[in-house]
Amino acid sequence: MDLRRLALVVVTVAVTVVGHGKNLSALRAHDIRRHGRLLSTIGVDLPLGGNGHPSETGLYFAKIGLGNPSKDYYVQVDTGSDILWVNCAGCDKCPTKSDLGLGLTLYDPKKSSTSSLVYCDQDFCTSTYDGPLPGCKPNLQCQYNVVYGDGSSTAGYFVKDNMKLEQVTGNLQSRSTNGTVVFGCGARQSGELGSSSEALDGILGFGQANSSIISQLAASGKVKKSFAHCLDNIEGGGIFAIGEVVSPKVKRTPMVQNQAHYNIVMKDIEVGGDLLRLPSDIFDSGDQKGTIVDSGTTLAYLPSSIYEPLMTKILSQQPALNLHTVEDQFTCFQFAGSVDSGFPVVKFHFEDSLVLTVFPHEYTFQIREDIWCFGWQNSGVQSKDGKDMILLGDLVLSNKLVIYDIENQNIGWTEYNCSSSVKVKDESSGAVYSVGAHDIGSASSLRIGGILTLLSIIIALLHSSIA
Ligand SMILES: *[C@@H]1O[C@H](CO)[C@@H](O)[C@H](O)[C@H]1NC(C)=O
Ligand SMILES: *[C@@H]1O[C@H](CO)[C@@H](O)[C@H](O)[C@H]1NC(C)=O
Ligand SMILES: *[C@@H]1O[C@H](CO)[C@@H](O)[C@H](O)[C@H]1NC(C)=O
Ligand SMILES: *[C@@H]1O[C@H](CO)[C@@H](O)[C@H](O)[C@H]1NC(C)=O
Repeated sequence: MDLRRLALVVVTVAVTVVGHGKNLSALRAHDIRRHGRLLSTIGVDLPLGGNGHPSETGLYFAKIGLGNPSKDYYVQVDTGSDILWVNCAGCDKCPTKSDLGLGLTLYDPKKSSTSSLVYCDQDFCTSTYDGPLPGCKPNLQCQYNVVYGDGSSTAGYFVKDNMKLEQVTGNLQSRSTNGTVVFGCGARQSGELGSSSEALDGILGFGQANSSIISQLAASGKVKKSFAHCLDNIEGGGIFAIGEVVSPKVKRTPMVQNQAHYNIVMKDIEVGGDLLRLPSDIFDSGDQKGTIVDSGTTLAYLPSSIYEPLMTKILSQQPALNLHTVEDQFTCFQFAGSVDSGFPVVKFHFEDSLVLTVFPHEYTFQIREDIWCFGWQNSGVQSKDGKDMILLGDLVLSNKLVIYDIENQNIGWTEYNCSSSVKVKDESSGAVYSVGAHDIGSASSLRIGGILTLLSIIIALLHSSIA
């Protein structure tokens, strides 16, 4: 399940005939009028739940409201893909139960008074598919198909409807407001997305493509093209704010331009105070696209040329350690005492001197009282040009405030207490308000189910071991 959220293939052009056509120019004109009214941007608070422990939830999700009347949906927050989709009524293989203890809801466009279909000649469709669709005729629906890193996929058609947003209106206060967005109505799920282990209602892609919710809300003038997450791996949940976070201030590193994901440039890796000696071209030769930052991936994936020296250096501090492999996937060991005093801190250095510090209690996880496993994974994943890719997930992103400033094309972070709050600017009033942490859906069943969840997750990881 782990790499699932990194979309590898987003676009499959396909259109189907729809029974009843609507006159769309009227709808479009309405939208343009609507957009014209929204001049100043607001801050939005997206309530979060879940945690990054591979032996517990292993993912973070948000609660969103869609339709009129609005219904709640739990969706994984994923900075590695570009559309929002939810399981839809009549779907083939959509999960109806979740081992996460959350109640799942199928979205039914027929039961929402504000929903409308999206056709292949509409701007959203042509822009998502980079031009006119071959064979597009009036009344052909705009379809989507996303294939994720583990080979699981979702397919369906786009709909337009209201999304309920929690507009930040005061310190730790919000009020519901509406935005119109286009999202996928899931009709066919395959692989892990069709199973009930860790099932959610869908995935909320926070990528920078025009099709993502952040881009749509920004295009309509509702929000700034900027957001931040603070994933709390200690208490669970955390903070997810859309808009300009003005406090705490964070140091930034530029995004690599024209990439499908959020990529940044790694320069060095430091383990316990020593720089790893790595081949000089490892981070940036030729077409190498840098390091991918992806909240939808649980662990951190490194090519062998980095993974091996990193593990050797980490283990050199514990020469007597007895390693064993669990489920062909994890390197595990018996250890009593504090991992933070037994193992070194790992620091990734990025362009413009931004450092990502990962403590031993973050890069290890406990599966039994005295058995620990390393979260680092040897990726073997190759990008299109054959270079290994570096993929940093929740393992290293948790317990930090991470800011994605799409407008200024940079990413920044700072160590942060994700159970506290951040300050977001509301441009419509000029005010600065606190946005606090949430931990939704943290039912006790989550914790009690820990061991069972672990088993299903390990099986899921096995199935998805990245080619
Ligand atoms: C849609 O409606 C507009 C205005 O109401 C009209 O001018 C246009 O011809 C209609 N288009 C179609 C395809 O019916
Ligand atoms: C994405 O949106 C921007 C701003 O609205 C626009 O300039 C650009 O052409 C769009 N890109 C595509 C591929 O449609
Ligand atoms: C959202 O929009 C619907 C339909 O336009 C409306 O009935 C509802 O009151 C709106 N909700 C909020 C919170 O603005
Ligand atoms: C984090 O913030 C919360 C809320 O302000 C506070 O209760 C908690 O003690 C803080 N944790 C740490 C480690 O400072």
